[in-house]
Amino acid sequence: MQYLRTTFDIPDRATLEGLLHRAQHLKRRRAERRLTPTLSGRVVGMLFEKASTRTRPSIEAGVALLGGATVVLHARDAHALGEEHEPLRDAARVLGSYVDALVARMRSHQDLEELARHARVPVVNGQSEIDHPCQVITDLFTVFERKERPFEVRWAYVGEPSGTANGLLAVAALTGIELALALPEDARLDAQALARAKSAGARVSVGHDPVAAVRGAGVVSTDSWSTPAALEPPARAARLAALARYQVNDALLSHAADDALVLHPLPARRGQEITDDALEGMRSVAFQQAGNRLCVQQALLEWLLGVSG
Ligand code: CP
Repeated sequence: MQYLRTTFDIPDRATLEGLLHRAQHLKRRRAERRLTPTLSGRVVGMLFEKASTRTRPSIEAGVALLGGATVVLHARDAHALGEEHEPLRDAARVLGSYVDALVARMRSHQDLEELARHARVPVVNGQSEIDHPCQVITDLFTVFERKERPFEVRWAYVGEPSGTANGLLAVAALTGIELALALPEDARLDAQALARAKSAGARVSVGHDPVAAVRGAGVVSTDSWSTPAALEPPARAARLAALARYQVNDALLSHAADDALVLHPLPARRGQEITDDALEGMRSVAFQQAGNRLCVQQALLEWLLGVSG
């Protein structure tokens, strides 16, 4: 059975390229208001233990447009999960018997893996601390749409590590894209993802200098800073000051290629990891990127369910 627990579950470049072309086709069909009922008679379940403004609604809309149905279970509406409550493996078996695929945003990646072990249907990671494959493949699609030679760009990721940063390691391994990451000195990517990318021959550099990472880049991406929000005000201010040089702003972007694309998965904390000017600037594709979640996830679900148009 095919899963999408991390971006490394995409088996090869040909599959990835097929998904990008299929997403483009589905996007075009939707713009033309033509029906593509490939998921007719299929039900996609969604188990969300955390909030979502993009992943959940874009999957619901995308499945509906393909003629399928969705069942959404938010953690607050379900019986508590865990060994002292209903074991996750029991809930996974039950939910898996109702649906053809399950998209889950769990509190931990370990729980996502547990769900995948017991659900008996394809499981899609709807974001975890380890990866955010739906987002990462959408990011690549957004570049694919706009660049003549999308796999030849230098891609810079600047800021705190995140699931999308880890997922980009898989994208670099699959496509040959040169990936330069600039992270704070106390920050670490997922060690397993980094080792896996490197052993696959990915061209990845990990450093601490944002200007060096961005110099000449055709894509500059970042993600929400997660650590400041978890701190009390004095410590938060100190953390924000330490992160300041990783902010995507006009000064940093002046080192990128003239036609560089600026990506942000949203939600953005304007003034933290990215400025208002950079997010709203001519080079930003953040809102097109958010819109692209729909067609990319449609292509992913078709692939996982073994259906095609
Ligand atoms: N980028 C992203 O996954 O957004 P949500 O958290 O709103 O789903």
